[in-house]
Amino acid sequence: MGMSTRGLGRAEGAVLVTNEEISRDLDTTPEWIKTRTGILSRRFAAEKETTSTMGAAAAARALAHAAVRDVDLTICCTMTPDYQSMPSTAALIQGELGLSGGAMDLNVACSGWVYGLVVANGLLQSRAVKRVLLVGADKTSCLTDPRDRSTRVLFGDGAGAAVLEYVEAPGEFVASDLGNDPSLSHLLFVPAGGSACPIGPEELANRSNYLQMAGREVFRAAVRVVVETCKAVLAKAGLSVSDVDFFIPHQANVRIVSYAAEKLGFPPEKVITNVDRYGNTSAASIPIALTEAWEDGRVKAGDRLLFCGFGAGMSWGSVLMEWSLEK
Ligand code: UT7
Repeated sequence: MGMSTRGLGRAEGAVLVTNEEISRDLDTTPEWIKTRTGILSRRFAAEKETTSTMGAAAAARALAHAAVRDVDLTICCTMTPDYQSMPSTAALIQGELGLSGGAMDLNVACSGWVYGLVVANGLLQSRAVKRVLLVGADKTSCLTDPRDRSTRVLFGDGAGAAVLEYVEAPGEFVASDLGNDPSLSHLLFVPAGGSACPIGPEELANRSNYLQMAGREVFRAAVRVVVETCKAVLAKAGLSVSDVDFFIPHQANVRIVSYAAEKLGFPPEKVITNVDRYGNTSAASIPIALTEAWEDGRVKAGDRLLFCGFGAGMSWGSVLMEWSLEK
């Protein structure tokens, strides 16, 4: 009686932007970006691409792989919806793909995918729905200030998707752990654009409609919460690091991933990273990394996978799964 993955898909922004290219317009160097983050290039959305078009492209691949057309609920995890308040990006994806059923967005910033898995699993287990299309999609390039070197170089655009189904069998979901510390909410913050501070001439002038980040503090907190939440989920499952085949964390900075993996005791070959090619794609980072690792045959049916997200909120979460999807 559980959740099973039927299909996976991914779609990245169409425009490849190398460190050399992004360094032309900013006071930075390709070397600084590489050594401080591990990022070599990222993908930015083309002019007409949006969170929903990338989400729909990833979802179409996941549905095609699953060979299904019907879903009961489309969930889009995103912090960069196509429209500020309505309609939901999930509704736009549903329309683009001609799907029926419910549609809703889930915003937990870069932790979105992990929260989405927990929500989907709960709805499937409760039999409220039989099949969920879970999408993680973000067009972060519209949230980072093109003039701000401290954020612009870090983020990228993309989407990942999974078709998740209720099965009369134990299922893949083993355990989860979710958390949030609102006292750290100021570390990752978009001051203007919401109901607290609508965008007017002053906000445009002081550029407070863009993402602001205390990078060093986020870095420190991220390593700490990743280690804590991964230990918590393993303890809930009664398992240890050596029982996990692959650690698939949110891709924000290769140094965060390496420090956390080292503290947890994961050898490098068990850690999936692709931040070098995509940068931080927020809610899309884990499903893109998973889909790539599954496509290239590293992740196989029978593997135990540990997913871990962290981001604004400051939010975090981890999910342990026993993978069953054959390529
Ligand atoms: O999804 C979650 C969201 N975000 C993250 O996970 C990001 C977490 N933080 C990080 O990844 C890292 O802290 C950064 C990559 C943002 C920065 O790396 P760092 O090694 O922690 O550098 P730092 O914060 O100690 O800054 C070093 C210097 C600063 O200058 P001062 O104050 O020492 O004079 C920055 O102004 O580097 C400067 N700097 C840059 N220099 C060149 C910041 N961005 C850049 C840049 N190019 N792009």
